[in-house]
Amino acid sequence: MKHLFTTIALAGVVTAYTDIRHKRFMVKNIDPIVNPGQYRSHMHSFFGSDAVTKDLPTTAELQKGCASGENPNDLSVYCKSRPLHRSRIPTLYYVRGPSDHVEVNPGMFSTYYENIDKAEIPYPQDFFAIAGNASAKSQNDVNENFTGLTWWCENGPEDRQNRNRALMPRVTCSGNIQVILRFPDCVQKANIKNYAYTAANGGRCPSGMKRVPQLRFSVRYNVRSLIPQGWSGAPPLKLACGEVGEGYCFHGDFINGWFDDAQKNLLKATSRNQWMGIDGAKGQGKAGTTCGPKDRDPNMGTSDYAKSLEMMKMYKN
Ligand SMILES: *[C@@H]1O[C@H](CO)[C@@H](O)[C@H](O)[C@H]1NC(C)=O
Ligand SMILES: *[C@@H]1O[C@H](CO)[C@@H](O)[C@H](O)[C@H]1NC(C)=O
Repeated sequence: MKHLFTTIALAGVVTAYTDIRHKRFMVKNIDPIVNPGQYRSHMHSFFGSDAVTKDLPTTAELQKGCASGENPNDLSVYCKSRPLHRSRIPTLYYVRGPSDHVEVNPGMFSTYYENIDKAEIPYPQDFFAIAGNASAKSQNDVNENFTGLTWWCENGPEDRQNRNRALMPRVTCSGNIQVILRFPDCVQKANIKNYAYTAANGGRCPSGMKRVPQLRFSVRYNVRSLIPQGWSGAPPLKLACGEVGEGYCFHGDFINGWFDDAQKNLLKATSRNQWMGIDGAKGQGKAGTTCGPKDRDPNMGTSDYAKSLEMMKMYKN
């Protein structure tokens, strides 16, 4: 019965898609979307175009940078945790001791573009979006129905039936810990700051908005090599924005850095079940990065966890 269910669930998510893998090129206490111009954010890990600093960049500015992803036609920024607009995500730490935080560099960070067959328009110029809730403290703050946010052991064991789905696994993973997060798939062309999820609106965009491909972050952390002794109960892992063992505050940013010609190709990836590479004038979709992305503002801000906390305090006082 369990197998049958899994098959159906998977069939439901097999939709037109493509993916791009990225290397993290910077960890810094900046958030170009939430705190533009300031070094007061919690720590974010950055992926994508390195033309990202504390200020919110335009698509054209991002396109002058060097991409850390494998597709030379995509100079978007992706962040986990809060940095700027390339992509950014919150930085994950292994809490080895009370004041000993070891950064966990994601073994794999992939951006998937899904439901492309349903998209009406490409990402508008200068479009940026935030997904997730950086201040979430409980499952109720997460909205998994839209964001899809959940943490699990990539290769088992599966323990989500016994815990909140946005907590980190309470059992030692046999392989990587994985987390996914979906981005809004509707935007108002005349006011790109107005965006929404079809899943929050009965499966369609609110009136006045157009549907864009749905971006999904997928991050895999190799915690087995870092924590070979494993764990039972809350794992000794902490997001820069949250508490030990909690994954609720995981969030991401996306700033559009796609070149127009490649976005036209992106919109052609409409097969319901076949992966397609996105090529463009800058090269093949899986060409890989060769330019050496780096921090463009190395003397400002910090990549040190303790120092980032001090800088956040300074701003609060
Ligand atoms: C984000 O989390 C906070 C809790 O800190 C909660 O009050 C708020 O409603 C959440 N936002 C959303 C959009 O769910
Ligand atoms: C999420 O979706 C499920 C299934 O459609 C529904 O039962 C549940 O009430 C939804 N949860 C929220 C918080 O909207």
